[in-house]
Amino acid sequence: MTQPTPILGSMRFGSWGANLSPAGVAALLEAALDAGIDTLDLADIYGDHGTNPLVGNALALRPGLRQRLRLLAKIGIVKADSPGNARGLPYYDLSVRHLRAALDASLRDLRTDYVDVLMLHRFDPLLEPAAIADWVREERKAGRIGAFGVSNFGPHALALFDGVLDVAAHQIELSLANSAALADGTLDATRARGAEVQAWSPLGGGGLLQPPIPLRDALHAIGDELGLDAASLLLRWVATIPDTSVVIGSTNADRIRAAATACAAPLPKDAWYALWQAARGFPVP
Ligand SMILES: NC(=O)c1ccc[n+]([C@@H]2O[C@H](COP(=O)([O-])OP(=O)(O)OC[C@H]3O[C@@H](n4cnc5c(N)ncnc54)[C@H](OP(=O)(O)O)[C@@H]3O)[C@@H](O)[C@H]2O)c1
Repeated sequence: MTQPTPILGSMRFGSWGANLSPAGVAALLEAALDAGIDTLDLADIYGDHGTNPLVGNALALRPGLRQRLRLLAKIGIVKADSPGNARGLPYYDLSVRHLRAALDASLRDLRTDYVDVLMLHRFDPLLEPAAIADWVREERKAGRIGAFGVSNFGPHALALFDGVLDVAAHQIELSLANSAALADGTLDATRARGAEVQAWSPLGGGGLLQPPIPLRDALHAIGDELGLDAASLLLRWVATIPDTSVVIGSTNADRIRAAATACAAPLPKDAWYALWQAARGFPVP
């Protein structure tokens, strides 16, 4: 079985992390491509709406770079301080009116005519699947989006699109810091629909590697056995889950290269379960 190739996340490119320059982003994207990673995860809210423009500037610096990449664009969150949010409270808006405007802004900011996958960033109890499906078909016909995906949906929420619109990908939090999706039906519901699982924060946002390292003893023991450092082991644990692409959060080219290698092979089953047990604190029945 071949492992799905990881995805590079952009959440920490700008003011929410490394504050890279456009040239720095372009260099990172080229390093990712050299490591075999051609998919970039984006969201309009990242960097307080500053990261998509940063990526757009990076793409503008290197002609041909955009065509080598598969862009995943998430929309649907309105932050407390998002432009035009008069009430100043965060909310989700999956109305066609908002989605169309957010796609317009994403395409403009990214300086591209289309995104390869358009994703709804968060589940919104007010969403209307039929209206979204009609809009997605319209945008597809116009060539502005490729596939459709969702993020942070529960197992039952996915059913809202059954028979209405194909969901190609579901982006969820999944790591040894938070493996709830394995047990609450979210993973199975995603796989059962043939959608790609995309695992965000595979290192728990970096927390799994910060002292006091929560799983230190297990990571040392199994890492020594398999010849893997802690970050590689944590990433390989996620990459071992079938149909799952790891969304890498690093802004460091060496770490991205190491992550691509880590995600290219699965863990032995007993090692995978040993780590899961260490994280959960109890064995399987
Ligand atoms: N759909 C959603 O709701 C959602 C939510 C959150 C995130 N995401 C996506 O998922 C992506 C990944 O999330 P994430 O950034 O939280 O991923 P993560 O991999 O769990 O955390 C990344 C953080 O860990 C640090 N790190 C990486 N390797 C390390 C090492 N060996 N030692 C110490 N620290 C290390 C990174 O720092 P360096 O940069 O210095 O390496 C970075 O600060 C995001 O970019 C975004 O695209 C989606």
